Amino acid sequence: MKVLFAASEAMPIIKTGGLADVVGALPKALSRKGVEVTVVLPKYGEIPEDILARAVKIAETEVQLGWRTQYCGIEEFWQDGIRYVLIDNEFYFKRGYLYGYGDEAERFAFFSFAVLEALDKLEEMPDIIHCHDWQTGLIPFLLRTKYKHRAGYTHIRTVFTIHNLQYQGVFSREVLQDLLATGDNSFTQDSLDFYGAGSCMKAGLLFADKLTTVSPTYAQEIQTEAFGEKLDGVIRQRSGDLRGILNGIDTDVYDPMKDPHLAAAYRNSLTKKRLNKIALQEELGLPLNGSVPMIGIVSRLTGQKGFDILAEALYSLMQENLQLVVLGAGDQAIEAMLHDTCMNNREKMAIWFGFNESLARRIYAASDIYLMPSRFEPCGLSQMIALRYRTVPVVRETGGLRDTVDSYNEYTGTGNGFSFVPATAHDLLFTVRRALSFYENDEAWRKIIANGAKKDYGWESSARQYQQLYREIVS
Ligand code: ADP
Ligand code: GLC
Repeated sequence: MKVLFAASEAMPIIKTGGLADVVGALPKALSRKGVEVTVVLPKYGEIPEDILARAVKIAETEVQLGWRTQYCGIEEFWQDGIRYVLIDNEFYFKRGYLYGYGDEAERFAFFSFAVLEALDKLEEMPDIIHCHDWQTGLIPFLLRTKYKHRAGYTHIRTVFTIHNLQYQGVFSREVLQDLLATGDNSFTQDSLDFYGAGSCMKAGLLFADKLTTVSPTYAQEIQTEAFGEKLDGVIRQRSGDLRGILNGIDTDVYDPMKDPHLAAAYRNSLTKKRLNKIALQEELGLPLNGSVPMIGIVSRLTGQKGFDILAEALYSLMQENLQLVVLGAGDQAIEAMLHDTCMNNREKMAIWFGFNESLARRIYAASDIYLMPSRFEPCGLSQMIALRYRTVPVVRETGGLRDTVDSYNEYTGTGNGFSFVPATAHDLLFTVRRALSFYENDEAWRKIIANGAKKDYGWESSARQYQQLYREIVS
């Protein structure tokens, strides 16, 4: 079986969030099962030099975007047994950062066409194109419309995975119509129309053969108005083709025993784990104290992640005996809020703004508690990385957080973390305080960590479910 992944980011080539972790790790797990995976990505200017140096140009072609004829270079390289294909067009992809430009519609419409044009230039056609999030949502649509009769393309099936329904790639109808050169019949309610505009996410949802999302709970949630981001009706309509398959993490990449970024390697030894806490306190200028509980956060700074709930709880949290370390990039208002609290609590709080993979690892390793009060969370990888680094997650019960974290029950001794349901500062505070009280109880704390260590958060079982899904649609 040959599967082609089309996505806008993948570890270790280029990353802004969990999507990259998934597109980096799932192909490796699939290839261990005999599925041949090629990953197609835009050739961004930000891809590390050493990777770009290995990429070899194998072909070039042209992409017709409405009235524009655009150059499309096709390069390839191999890494960890996976073939990567880079779509080269410097005008679209050699910029300062990955997303957020005024011409996003044009950049990713180009990418979607380019992926389909590139197929002809690769030696063999895939059985399946597996698309990820809105940036590749137009691919299933194009395959079923513009490429419908193209020789060699008719057998190809598509899977569309929703990593985050909040980002939809909604653009004005004029812009999309101009880029796609499609008639009015593509902008009806059962096609790209989204309340008078056009939606790339909806294109993926309607035209892919199968849909998946990244946890069973999120698969249910997005069928409701509260989480459906105005697409719940479309998703309900396709619920028979939707599966919730929980993400895993790459346990080779996230392994405190082998992680080169840590001060001390460990697996289950809390004494060695503590050396990482002291090293991080030193690095960030916090008081050196192995026994004070450290709470870590590594996150995109967005509304999704519940920083408004945290903001309301921060003053009271700072009255507790703890240290809080936050690494994040994103919303400036959230940065300012964290910065203000930090300036008033320098003995207790440290912040670092920006993307920093190495510091992220040190925070996972150093912290005792990992806090994730998300308002919604399709899956969430951070809590699984935390568990792998023997750090106890405190989370809001939603999406994948609900599917991976069980609240500790002191009567039965079960549970790998702590969770709360109402999205309020009161519940966040109560739950953090509850976790802190068990931190004081060495026996209970070790039990919680041991419960977390029992489960393997790798990709094995989820990769099997994807393989099964691929088999179903190809047969
Ligand atoms: P999301 O994809 O919504 O951002 P996930 O929990 O699925 O959330 O994945 C986030 C991934 O990105 C994790 O691997 C996390 O460690 C990483 N990450 C988030 N913010 C940063 C940052 N500022 N620096 C380094 N890594 C980060
Ligand atoms: C999205 C979601 C996150 C998920 C990740 C990978 O960024 O916000 O919950 O883990 O995609 O699927």
